[in-house]
Amino acid sequence: MQDFTADLVLRGGTVVSGNASFAADVAIKDGLIAAVGAPGSMPPARESLDVTGQWVLPGAIDVHVHFREPGYTHKEDWETGSAAAAMGGTTTVFEMPNTDPPTRSAAELRAKQEAARKSYVDFGLYGLLAEDNLEELEGLVAAGANAFKCFMGNTFGNLPSPSTGAMLEGFEILAKHGLRISLHAEEYSIMANRTRRLAEAGRNDPLDHLKARPAIVAVEAVGRAAALAEWTGARVHVLHISSAAELRPLAEAKARGVDITGETCPCYLLLDSRDYGRVGSVIRVNPPVREASDSEAIWHAIRSGLVDMIATDHAPHTPEEKRQDVIWRADCGFPGVETQMPLMLSQVAAGRITIEDYVRMSAEAPARAFGLWPAKGRIAPGAQADIAVVDPQRREVIRAERLHSRGKITPFEGVEVTGVPVHTLVRGRFVQRDRKLVADAKGWGRQVTDIQRMPPAKPQNADLAINALAPRRGKDAA
Ligand code: DOR
Ligand code: ZN
Repeated sequence: MQDFTADLVLRGGTVVSGNASFAADVAIKDGLIAAVGAPGSMPPARESLDVTGQWVLPGAIDVHVHFREPGYTHKEDWETGSAAAAMGGTTTVFEMPNTDPPTRSAAELRAKQEAARKSYVDFGLYGLLAEDNLEELEGLVAAGANAFKCFMGNTFGNLPSPSTGAMLEGFEILAKHGLRISLHAEEYSIMANRTRRLAEAGRNDPLDHLKARPAIVAVEAVGRAAALAEWTGARVHVLHISSAAELRPLAEAKARGVDITGETCPCYLLLDSRDYGRVGSVIRVNPPVREASDSEAIWHAIRSGLVDMIATDHAPHTPEEKRQDVIWRADCGFPGVETQMPLMLSQVAAGRITIEDYVRMSAEAPARAFGLWPAKGRIAPGAQADIAVVDPQRREVIRAERLHSRGKITPFEGVEVTGVPVHTLVRGRFVQRDRKLVADAKGWGRQVTDIQRMPPAKPQNADLAINALAPRRGKDAA
């Protein structure tokens, strides 16, 4: 018996890590996991919860959500988005900078920190890396940006994609801080050209969106970004991997030792080109849902670890914005942070991946890649008590009206799932309990800056970096 009183003991469950599952009780004290051990061996506790037959997972860490505040709060805001996360077993989100205004300076980051004070779950904030804000990057880092986002291709918000020159300089600056740069890896000019050609030819169907963005857009962008990362030493992350073809530049970069990670999202695993007719314009997302052979290749890549993690690209819009006869007018993306875990647990139930694979991809890998490990991403003594308690047998049907996001319309409408998070704890506190949001946990979430550890990357070619080039002297000087 241990000599302290725990705040809470989860009794009788199965604890899961990235490589093992075992019967264990879990004691929580002061927001941390205090002990994990044989059933019955826990200290006395103020509260004890029987989780027999249930899985005790580290909460999902979703490094790709769009909560829309400031600027597009008719689609989502920090309260509704983080409530959706809490209901979905996600305990930490990293939020994207394509709000209005975009998060491209320290002042804009501070405004977002203010908006995020309503969050139910812990969060990281992305700063923007754009053509015209290189002077702001150091300020964004100092103000607490947890990672950076570079839109190599356009998507919602239509932020212009930076030139390769600006990307190189941004990578040089950020490599010194070690913060990861997440890439919307679609090459802009190919898509712009194809979209214009298709629209001019009067092609307006949902499948024309897929034709406008052939996988070469991703192959080009992943290869180019990897080259810049290798040259500068910057850490990079490929968002929403959608194609078989881009796996090759990703694998080659990893083999060369580039610090590069990759994610995919449930839609690229569970939907394919055959779904465009049934789902219609709601399926429009960037990058697009592709062929069945692409999703099969991504399934292989998540099992092998080439694709490191699962995220959602949670991107809510209103039904009016999504339902459009002309595909080019439909906003891109859909909510995902509440449905990711049930959808993926259903794949565990179907035997396509193991529950340990799932924990590796949903919690361990993102915690490691974004510097939250060992404080988050695992159920072990000393870690923060971010926990999803899952009933692996529970069945639910995904219905827009049950989702907590403001923009609810989803291509997964009507899908029956097996395996649902029934409680979610963030640093030891219930934010979801028995499938109900814990309303007074609003505002419990906090930014992860205090636990994040991203040591400086090993800069390459630093002597050639723009900042290291000595100013000219003498008659050439400006
Ligand atoms: O479809 C998308 N929608 N892809 C993205 O990368 C951004 C997102 C959004 O913000 O709506
Ligand atoms: Zn996104």
